[in-house]
Amino acid sequence: MAENYSFRPGELWLDDNGVHINAHGGGVLFYAGTYYWFGEHKIAGEAGNAAHVGVHVYSSTDLCNWKDEGIALKVSEDPRSPIVRGCILERPKVIFNPNTNKFVMWFHLEPKDHGYAGALSGVAVADRVAGPYQFIRAFRPNAGVWPLNVPAELKKELSAEECAQLDQLDVAGGPRPWYPRQLLFRRDFSSGQMARDMTLFVDEDGSAYHLYASEGNGTLHISRLADDFLSPAGQYIRVLPGRFNEAPAMLKWRGKYFLYTSDCTGWAPNPARLLIADSIFGEWTELGNPCIGPGEQVANTFNSQPTFILPVNGASDGFIFMADRWNSADAIDGRYVWLPIEFKHGVPTISWHDSWNLDCFGCPV
Ligand code: GAL
Repeated sequence: MAENYSFRPGELWLDDNGVHINAHGGGVLFYAGTYYWFGEHKIAGEAGNAAHVGVHVYSSTDLCNWKDEGIALKVSEDPRSPIVRGCILERPKVIFNPNTNKFVMWFHLEPKDHGYAGALSGVAVADRVAGPYQFIRAFRPNAGVWPLNVPAELKKELSAEECAQLDQLDVAGGPRPWYPRQLLFRRDFSSGQMARDMTLFVDEDGSAYHLYASEGNGTLHISRLADDFLSPAGQYIRVLPGRFNEAPAMLKWRGKYFLYTSDCTGWAPNPARLLIADSIFGEWTELGNPCIGPGEQVANTFNSQPTFILPVNGASDGFIFMADRWNSADAIDGRYVWLPIEFKHGVPTISWHDSWNLDCFGCPV
């Protein structure tokens, strides 16, 4: 393939074999001088919204030319496996643990044929960055642990009767004025918290965090990972209960934490949101929509939904907003919208560019 040194959001992005990159809902790990892009491998048609292949990985040294490194985590052919072919496996992210020398992958998992009711987190691990990754387990995080930021009077499990009443409410579909802000995490205290759209974030001190849409997608959780990154550490907070933030993606810049999210409208795009905090465990404050441009573009996040913020190696102000332009009718044709983050008065904004390259961050092209 011809060398390519620019990003063209929304167009076909070809790998070294001339095939459209197949890594949706993805994230990028920079390791030993190379970027690794992990994402959902989708197949054609509506069937492609479920996992038939696994997590695909590509490598690059310049973020523009990508080499196909194959399937990092394969779905299983064993019907008893939680990651059996036909399950829903979304938004995989990989981080490296320098203490164990392992690469750790987390993803959102829905058991086969149960829609989105499972709300599980899956974990897999590998000795080599491109895999193969071994699936370890799938579970609902933080069972038996109260969030750090709820008052003592709310640290009380719901009774069976209260749970039964709650089950009558349809909280799955999106914002409701009557969303039960203070009930779902208490219902799920013993069995673990629901976890759907997710990302991972490694802080400067090496601590890692799992951010996931919980409580019927109505409330985000930020949950610290244990030192080996394989399980929750047992410390987490709830962020803006009832605000229905999903598709979380985080960056840290000059000591401040910024969290990008979307609203909750399934595959259809909606206005992105930006939140800020001085500490990862809050207080989190909403800043509004980070997109700049014509109304329509701002209203649908350039027809995309966030998945990850990619810190550009060697550029202290260089971050790429990675988002998906889903095509749920033909999942394999989903497009990638990568745009440079532009700090304006300390706020990391996003504007449309038909074509752009890394020299906007002062990087040589
Ligand atoms: C979106 C979510 C995607 C996928 C989709 C299914 O809201 O961000 O990752 O789960 O819903 O409808």
